[in-house]
Amino acid sequence: MSEKHGSLKVEIVTHREGETASQTFDYHLRAKDERPMALDVLLQAQATSMPELAFRYGCRARNCGVCTIDVNGRPRIACRARVRAGDTISPMATLPVLSDLVVRRDGIARQLRGRLMSGGQGNALNVEAPDTYHDLTACIECYACLDKCPMHARNFADGLPGEMNNDLPDPAQGYRWGNPFSLLKLQRIRIDPLTTEVGRGTALDHAIELGLDACVGCPGCKCGIGINLKGDVIKPLMDAAGERLLSP
Ligand code: SF4
Ligand code: SF4
Ligand code: FES
Repeated sequence: MSEKHGSLKVEIVTHREGETASQTFDYHLRAKDERPMALDVLLQAQATSMPELAFRYGCRARNCGVCTIDVNGRPRIACRARVRAGDTISPMATLPVLSDLVVRRDGIARQLRGRLMSGGQGNALNVEAPDTYHDLTACIECYACLDKCPMHARNFADGLPGEMNNDLPDPAQGYRWGNPFSLLKLQRIRIDPLTTEVGRGTALDHAIELGLDACVGCPGCKCGIGINLKGDVIKPLMDAAGERLLSP
């Protein structure tokens, strides 16, 4: 690897088979003024000194959402997050780690499985859907919004999975408590013009069962790509739930 443009040291933290390891990687800049993305660092590390390093990526264009990792403890989309010297890259703290930087995503997908809200109709004809509906379809399922969500944290009473707590709920069962992403999915169903009245009610019931009460007094959640979670997801759900959030 050429040294001519200088290098940048980044800490890469991995979890594998119950062990946490931290390694300083010297990223060799490909141009003098390069500001590499976290994904560039991981790809170069894997191609040089860390051949077994496991991480996930797909589109490399902020479309698929599967590359999310933590940079300095906060979730970032690896193909779009620039890193600086001294930064630390680690697996998402909000989900259990499979290996190195790869986390299990199935606990959230299973949470909504089997709850068909639109009475069996497809939703290919969203011609009358409100603008908000289309805004919500922009979600790339990166799960960055799980960060600091007290509802999601209820799943891990003894600490977040990124802390390598082995006594975790089994993702294969689907997590008991929800998160901003699950609520976005449910709110999208509620405002889909093809959803039946019954389906709308079921979606709201499900949001409440997932722990919508945790949103009362919560400062709100942040989307990795700028979807207005607070205004377009949480508020309408809470408005619809009304006093049901205060009932025991
Ligand atoms: S507003 Fe609700 S979904 Fe968003 S972070 Fe708070 S508890 Fe989680
Ligand atoms: S709502 Fe935003 S942060 Fe959450 S999964 Fe979707 S795109 Fe990612
Ligand atoms: S690789 Fe698809 S969003 Fe990063």
